[in-house]
Amino acid sequence: MLKKLFICLFVFFIHNHEPADGQKKKETLLSEKVTQMMEWTSKRSVIRMNGDKFRRFVKAPPRNYSVVIMFTALQPQRQCGVCRQADEEYQVLANSWRYSSAFTNKVFFASVDFDEGSDVFQMLNMNSAPTFLHFPSKGKTRLSDTYELQVRGFAAEQLARWVADRTDVQIRVIRPPNYAGPLLLGLLLAVIGGMAYLRRHNLEFLFSKNVWAFSATDQIGFVADGDDRTKRAYMRYGLKNEIWF
Ligand SMILES: *[C@@H]1O[C@H](CO)[C@@H](O)[C@H](O)[C@H]1NC(C)=O
Repeated sequence: MLKKLFICLFVFFIHNHEPADGQKKKETLLSEKVTQMMEWTSKRSVIRMNGDKFRRFVKAPPRNYSVVIMFTALQPQRQCGVCRQADEEYQVLANSWRYSSAFTNKVFFASVDFDEGSDVFQMLNMNSAPTFLHFPSKGKTRLSDTYELQVRGFAAEQLARWVADRTDVQIRVIRPPNYAGPLLLGLLLAVIGGMAYLRRHNLEFLFSKNVWAFSATDQIGFVADGDDRTKRAYMRYGLKNEIWF
């Protein structure tokens, strides 16, 4: 009788040991992955991933964190001007998150460069850069997990809105101080002042069409500028030099 009980217990133990052990392994693996992602993020706000890292930390389960990835082509020989501008904005966004008091391990920012992870581009059937994708912490990837770059542009504020929509994480975009605007205004005023001074005996120039046209275009440029740098870049280049593979 006792022997039978032992056997029963033994069988019971064997049967239950497996899943419990698997669960524990999964938990350990997950916490290792989260620790690793946190360590990378502490070094640079945007984690650079090649194919291996992407498969391990984004594609393969278990994962309880969201990953936003910019697929890009930053090597000079790729000549992707838009990639560089988008990268700047993406860094602003990732830094705003990394140094925010609300920072958690819920969302990580990463990038995959075509020249370091072309296998990932192939795997995802991706043929243009830059492209932003969100990999949700759970559930399937939806259409809205692909950022509509052509429609929304790549300003950090727009990207933040999309991230908030996809992950519930609100990021307040904080830009490093930009002295270009005030400097330019100062220069413009100095030039106008200088011209007025030199021509003080001949104020007719104020009515010259050319001078007005010059200052008018400058004003327009400046208004667009004040908003955000990207808008200007976006208006100037459009997305014409986005690249296709
Ligand atoms: C994900 O799981 C790890 C390990 O259990 C935990 O440390 C981390 O806080 C979890 N992250 C979230 C966003 O729940």
